Amino acid sequence: AMVDKYTVRTETDQNIPVVAPPAGSDVSLIARLWSWWPILELEKGKTYRLNLTSMDYKHGFSLQPENINIQVITGYQHVVTVTPNRSGTYAIVCNEFCGIGHHTMVSRLYVK
Ligand code: CUA
Repeated sequence: AMVDKYTVRTETDQNIPVVAPPAGSDVSLIARLWSWWPILELEKGKTYRLNLTSMDYKHGFSLQPENINIQVITGYQHVVTVTPNRSGTYAIVCNEFCGIGHHTMVSRLYVK
């Protein structure tokens, strides 16, 4: 699978894979109670098609500090084309209430 092929390391106590996909590719980001999977590591100045899906519930993808907000709903594929223009670590926060663990549903996105 794409995730296995492009995993560069794992992070967090849940051992979430950090995936560095090739520029120009379609990248999956899966929301589920209460995590984002995998962690993405993108290259500055390259373009990716981010495919957002939910496994279980309505979640909200909020990329900070860019203020990109997308509802992530089961049964839909939300495709966003992104071209990061600044390197660093971005925060991904769920901004739709999704139950008791909602406040823990945070991740990050690396741009290098
Ligand atoms: Cu997922 Cu709140």
